[in-house]
Amino acid sequence: MANNFDDADRVETVRIRGLSGEATGGNFYKLVGGSETFKKLAAKFYEGVASDPLLKPMYPEEDLGPAQLRLQLFLEQYWGGPATYQELRGHPRLRMRHSDFKINPAARERWLLHMRAAVDSLSLPQTQEAELWGYLDRAATAMLNTFED
Ligand code: HEM
Repeated sequence: MANNFDDADRVETVRIRGLSGEATGGNFYKLVGGSETFKKLAAKFYEGVASDPLLKPMYPEEDLGPAQLRLQLFLEQYWGGPATYQELRGHPRLRMRHSDFKINPAARERWLLHMRAAVDSLSLPQTQEAELWGYLDRAATAMLNTFED
């Protein structure tokens, strides 16, 4: 697993290492079904974003396809899959990369709403679902950068 994430990511990485060890016979990425699972997650999430009146206008590109792939690759790398994200985009520094976007509690709620639907679409076993959701929920909080409307 790549370990050069920003501080918020690093806290999570350390926590998740416990689960990625021998007890589970492999890492979380493999456990949940590898690339196909993250591809489905990102696709379902961006289906929601495409019709969201608050989130869609925040995306610099009209075509959400490239953003969808970036999210997929980031999550694959984060959970112990190939480091393709890093090869294409460099160090994640997600908080910094989000600093141009106004992420207030309302934006966070919308993001999590679509992510909830995406996670549900995977029908993962409960422990895996809780692990994935717990991370996404906290990561979304870490991305908050304003409390203004
Ligand atoms: C909390 C609400 C959030 C909002 C409103 C938001 C919004 C955005 C926007 C507008 C972009 C630019 C699209 C692009 O060009 O890729 C972006 C990029 C990205 N977001 Fe978020 N995001 C949020 C949370 C998160 C979270 C929690 C994660 C990870 C768990 C995440 C992962 C990413 C990634 C990997 C990229 C692409 C970064 C790059 O390589 O340039 N986002 N996000």
